[in-house]
Amino acid sequence: MPDHPEIPRHIAIIMDGNGRWAKQRGKPRLEGHRIGAESVRAVTSACVKLGVEYLTLYAFSSENWNRPEAEVRALMALLDQFLKDKARELHEQRIRLLAIGQIERLPAKTRARLEKIIADTADHDALTLVLALSYGGREEIVEAARSLAADAAAGKIDPDEIDKELFASRLHTAAMPDPDLLIRTSGEMRVSNFLLWQISYAEMVIVPKLWPDFRDADLDEAIEEYQRRHRRFGGL
Ligand code: IPE
Ligand code: IPE
Ligand code: MG
Repeated sequence: MPDHPEIPRHIAIIMDGNGRWAKQRGKPRLEGHRIGAESVRAVTSACVKLGVEYLTLYAFSSENWNRPEAEVRALMALLDQFLKDKARELHEQRIRLLAIGQIERLPAKTRARLEKIIADTADHDALTLVLALSYGGREEIVEAARSLAADAAAGKIDPDEIDKELFASRLHTAAMPDPDLLIRTSGEMRVSNFLLWQISYAEMVIVPKLWPDFRDADLDEAIEEYQRRHRRFGGL
């Protein structure tokens, strides 16, 4: 009997290794990103079947804007195409789409497409798929601090009222539970500015496979690993 038999309510994934996957095959990095979109489809459907409530995917970080312009442009085009292709599938599978991050930095056309799908899928309840786009954990925390400081300066709140709950309510993830399981592919053992506040007690599973190779069976394995963990939350 696993120590922790239930399916994680919220799974967050740092989808890493697309470029290396392509390089190993002598292909342009974009090809890795393209096949990586297949992994997204597979993992999303698997989460619906398993009854996972929230799946958060780190698709583009605040720091990824610093990549060469051609790669940024290609990633934005791929995101746009992904949203175009997936709109129908999200409806059919009753998936609700959300986004976290500085989405105002995305190209206007892509942002409009994203916002339309978010509005159109708002009532769906099979899974909430959260795309982290132009997302940085430090940026998110700074924004929350700024919004609380502005309210305090305007006399709307007393600084003494600021507690963990009020702070969390100003994050992009305000309405979501914290991730239970954090998966990173490609073997890298770092967090890379992802969900810094929210992962305080997430169980981390680092998978050596590169993201374009990650499929349902790999997700099952990561969940089994999670179920073997003993979550203590600082207790005994
Ligand atoms: C992850 O793959 C996708 C994004 C960060 C957009 P990478 O592009 O980081 O691929 P590697 O890590 O260079 O192999
Ligand atoms: C993290 O991967 C960001 C995403 C997966 C979107 P990176 O490839 O950007 O992270 P580092 O540079 O290896 O830390
Ligand atoms: Mg990477």
